[in-house]
This record gives sequence, structure tokens and C-alpha cells, in this order.
Amino acid sequence: MTGLIEPKSIGAPLERLEGHAKVTGTAPYAAEHLAADTAHLHPVQATVARGRITGMDTTAAEALDGVLAVLTPGNAPRLAPGDDPELAVLASDEVAYRGQIIAAAVAETTEIARQAADLVRVSYAELPHDVELRADSAGLYAPEVVNPTYPTDTTEGDPDGALAAAAVTVDRTYTTPMEHNNPMEPHATVALWARDTLTLYESTQWPHGVRDTIARLFGLATDQVRVIAPYVGGGFGSKTIHANTVLAAMGARAVPGRPVSFALTRQQMFSLVGYRTPTIQRIRLGAGADGRLTAIAHDVVEQTARLKEFAEQTAVATRSMYAAPNRRTTHRLAALDVPAPTWMRAPGECPGMFALECAMDEMAIACGLDPIEFRVRNEPEIDPETGLPFSSRNLIRCLREGADRFGWRRRDPTPGVRREDGWLLGTGVAASTFPVFRLPGSAATVRRLAGGRYRVQIDAVDIGTGAWTSLAQIAADALDVPPDAVDLRIGDSALPPGSVAGGSSGTTSWGSAIVDAARTFREKFPDPEEGDEAGGATPDNPDLERFAMHAYGAQFAAVRVHADTGEVRVPRMLGVFAAGRIINPRTARSQFIGGMTMGLSMALHEDSVMDVRFGQVANHDFAGYHIASNADVRSIDAIWIEEEDPHVNPMGSKGIGEIGIVGAAAAVANAAYHATGVRVRDLPLTPEKFL
Ligand code: MOS
Repeated sequence: MTGLIEPKSIGAPLERLEGHAKVTGTAPYAAEHLAADTAHLHPVQATVARGRITGMDTTAAEALDGVLAVLTPGNAPRLAPGDDPELAVLASDEVAYRGQIIAAAVAETTEIARQAADLVRVSYAELPHDVELRADSAGLYAPEVVNPTYPTDTTEGDPDGALAAAAVTVDRTYTTPMEHNNPMEPHATVALWARDTLTLYESTQWPHGVRDTIARLFGLATDQVRVIAPYVGGGFGSKTIHANTVLAAMGARAVPGRPVSFALTRQQMFSLVGYRTPTIQRIRLGAGADGRLTAIAHDVVEQTARLKEFAEQTAVATRSMYAAPNRRTTHRLAALDVPAPTWMRAPGECPGMFALECAMDEMAIACGLDPIEFRVRNEPEIDPETGLPFSSRNLIRCLREGADRFGWRRRDPTPGVRREDGWLLGTGVAASTFPVFRLPGSAATVRRLAGGRYRVQIDAVDIGTGAWTSLAQIAADALDVPPDAVDLRIGDSALPPGSVAGGSSGTTSWGSAIVDAARTFREKFPDPEEGDEAGGATPDNPDLERFAMHAYGAQFAAVRVHADTGEVRVPRMLGVFAAGRIINPRTARSQFIGGMTMGLSMALHEDSVMDVRFGQVANHDFAGYHIASNADVRSIDAIWIEEEDPHVNPMGSKGIGEIGIVGAAAAVANAAYHATGVRVRDLPLTPEKFL
């Protein structure tokens, strides 16, 4: 790297630049960009899990007063062939999963659109379906790679031989359920087709990606499509692009000159925008009598859609977490008649580290070691997978710092012996990790304005992370001005390109482009009064080839389990992270705590229950699909240790959007075991599992 920029504004706990607008309701989300003449779209969704549409009668729908258009596979615009079958909306009569969009109504109001959609009569030739993931699902196969391009299987040494010879072994199977991304703001689009241009107000993690995909599908030049997303109410991985956005654009084309709004209902979120695959994970660990691991095997079975493959990288974190000379990881998929799974906060690391970190707890106990000391004993000196040195790795410091703060040293390891007013008490720990990703394709411009101010432009997007604020801080330090001298413009595909707000890569990718543009500006115009505008892009980082780069953390949880009812409560959580320089402590803390809360939610509640008869998620709303609420979240805190890493990017920062969820559920499950002596290996930790 060319050296870290000097942190002046970086590190300051600035309040969110858009905070006032958000809490006063004046920061518009996608579906709030409404005009008086906005029309509304409601989809018709397939009511069979697999088959073919044999007839569709739209007469009653079209006759309804206020209906403007009814789109069907018979009259919908032909899209350019693409490589994503999920986006081939209304392109055929085939039904690949229950809930798939098969028609849509556009009308004067949402109510009329919904009524019209209900009036569309559909008949099907139904085929038998399979929607249930099992360890022995028919047709399990090995994908070519797992998300995004990791090898499917890895083997080092002789894991089977080492397991057979090990003094201590653990061989356990853990499961995690299907879980659905449920950002506070559901997916929404307002689309306007005027003359030859299409404008989308879109709730998205990637305006540029949506622009490019929509332009290609509709045969437009990219400058004929504009995607605007100044504020987004959460994403968690689902807000890339799905069929709903394509359908909204089709709806707009049916009523040119009028905006069309398609705001998903909460129920539609459970079939149209992806989810986290369920997983079945067998972990085998072998260790010597000295508590050093000799073998790690992690074999994963998970699902994908028959329509389109998404292979979650569940065992990838296991490849570099602990030192063990003999290691194996595998991923096998069942292609089912279901919607395609997708990213959900820390895809791979999140479910995978639940299994690995529970198994590490079981192994520590089997070895008679404290779970922190057991992890310290198995800390690798170099990355076990690549053989590269770590750019920085401070897992042990996180564990030790957390142990001090949490009061771990007073802990009696005996399970099931602390009781208070009918509740069994326990504490647990788990490790956390997330890779440092840098995505190509971002560019930024810096322009001098009057009064010593600078306009900084990049199509980044703030999905609730604090990017508005942290990017302004990065720009300020790169230009050596105070943050209020920066006039930042993001969230609009008319700006220079930005990569996706995903993979905890935003700050690295966009921030590096901003720093590059600022450096170019300052080199080109040594006297800034002379300067006008300069641009830059995310530079290559040769250190990515020379170092393994990951953030680490230690998750601690205190748990109470009611001895009679099995109810689980989590009065205290502490996360200690090592993630490079923290750009903004205020928004970073919120990111960590948000991730930990989602991990708590995963531990206690989240579970999409597939009704195998019909192929749909039975609990497809917040009455049935529970997420952690205020009453669940008691004392929860996140801290971090100072970490200088000159290799990751010019800011010295690692991503923090996802690491907070990783390991959190394992810490809770390990604490629940410590409380009760009952080892629950299947999430969520519902009461009956402890009785
Ligand atoms: Mo995040 S699951 O990479 O959007």
C-alpha cells in the first residue's frame, strides 16, 4: 500500500449526517417518492410449487374500475436473454417455486391493484415437488464453486487417519434453519418510463448493479436508466436485484409517463427476495491429549433452487480458523423446488461458525480445557489454508480482553449447577471472523466548490450502515479539511460507479476510490485554489496476494434458561472485535451491536418453517416469524481493540457490517449448555429443546 492516511476526522464519533432527516421522517425511502399520478402494482404469485400454467383468465381483473394494465406471460415485454433465470420475469409458463411472479396488475391504488391481482384466474398442470432439505436429499451434488468463487471442497493431510488416531474426538451434527432477510424497509421500487429513459427509485444495496442489469434486460443503454437510492432502510444481502424490480420496470412500461410503485408486503418478502439456506453440518474434531487439534473435518449439506444455483460458502471460515495439520471441508447441495437462496448477513461465516464454534466448545470440554485456553492453544501462526501471513490477527487479544471485561476468570465450568429463582444460569464464548473484501469497479470525483468546500461524488449507498458519515470523514482526511467542508453525493447511478454495499466491502472499496481521487486532486492542484476537478478509482492492492486478511472477534453471552419451561433469556452479551481502524466509533458500535442482535435473533427465534405439502413458508409474517425485539435485548455491548493494519487499504479499516453476527449464536448456545447441561445443536434454541 502507499501508506495510511493520517486520521484526523477518522476516529471521531460524528453523528450521522442524515440522522436528523431520518428521525424527522424527511429522509425519503424508495416507496415514498410518490407523485399525484403514481400508479400501483400488485403481483399474482404461483400457488403451486412446481408445474406449468395451463390457463390464465384476466377478464374480471381488467374489467375492474381503476385497473390500468394486467401483465401476463402472454403480453409482457420480451426481455433480453440473461444468465439469471430468477430475473426472467413472465418469460414462460413454467412454475419453479410457489410464490413465483406469474402476472401483475397495475391500478390507480394499491387496493385496486391487489383486488385485480386476486381476480386473475389461473389453472396449472401441477408436478410433484420436493422442498425439504435432508442430510440424504435425493441428488445431492457438489457445485463447481461456492459463493462467490471459493473451492467447493478442500483437503489437507489425512483427516480420516488423524481422526482415527486422535486421543480425543468430537463428531457432531449441527443444523441451522432457513432464515429470511427482513430489513425494516421491505424491498420497493418506484419506476417511471418517460420518453426513452427509465428512472427507478429503488431500495437497493447497489444502484449501479441494478442500473446495468435493468438496462441489459430491457435492451437500453446504461445512460437510459437511472437508479436513485439516497436512503435505504436495511438490506442484509437481499437488496441486490430480484424479480420485483424487473416487474416494476415492466409495469412502468405499460403506463408510460406515469410512475408505478411496487412496494413488497412483508408476506411477499418470504418468497421473492431470497433467504439464508438451511444447513446440516457435520463437524469432526480430533485432538491430542495436550489439547492441540490434529484434525478438523466440516461437511455441509444445504439447499439451492432448481431454477438457479446459489451455493452458500458455509465451511469456508473453518479453512483458516484454527491450526490443525489435517483438514477437510465439503459442500453438497440439494436443488429443490424453492426460491433461490441468497446472501444474508455474513453468508457462510454465520451458519458455519455456529457449528464450528459449538464444536470447539464441546471439544474444549472433552479435553478438560477452558474454551478460551483451548482456542489460544490452537491459534495458527500463519493462515492454515493459504500459508500466507496474516496482515493482522488479534483473535487472542479479543478473547483475553473480553474475558477480563466479562468476568470470565471467576467462571466454574461445571454445567447445570447455578440456579436463581427457578432459572439456570450459564455463560458462553465463541470466536468470530470475517474476511476483508475489496471489490473492483468504484470511482470517485473530487471537485472544488466555493468557500474551501469540496464536492465528493461516488455511487456508494448507505443501507443504514453509516456510510454517509464515514465516507465524508474519509474524504475530509484525504483532502485534509474538516468533514463539514465535504459535500458528499452518493446513492445515485448518475454518479461515478460504486460497487455493492455487500460483503462488508463498502468502506474498503469506496473509501479507497475517494482517497485515490483526493490524492490525484492534491497532486494535480498543489494549490487547491487553482484546482477544479479530479477523479480516482479503487486501486489494486498487491498486498491482497501477500497476506491473509480477516477481522476477528470474541463473543460472550450470559444466558438464563428456566428450569421448568425451558424459556431462554439472554441478559448480557459482549462482543470484542479487532477490525483495523474504526472510522466512526458511533456508527461502528451500532453496526457491531446490530449484528450481535441479529445473532441473538438467530439463536432464539428465527426459523422459516417450510410447509412441505405446499412448498411455502408457513410463518411468512412477523406474527409467525419472530425476530429479536426490545424485550429480548438487555445489556448488549461491543468494544474493539486498537489494531494498526497498513495492508488492508489506505484507511487501515476492515469491514464491520457482518462480523457482529458471526459467532453470536454459538456463544448463546454454548452458554445455554453451561446453564443446563443440555447441548442443543439445532437452531433456534426454543424451549422444548431444553426439556
Ligand atoms: Mo451482505 S450479506 O454481504 O449484503
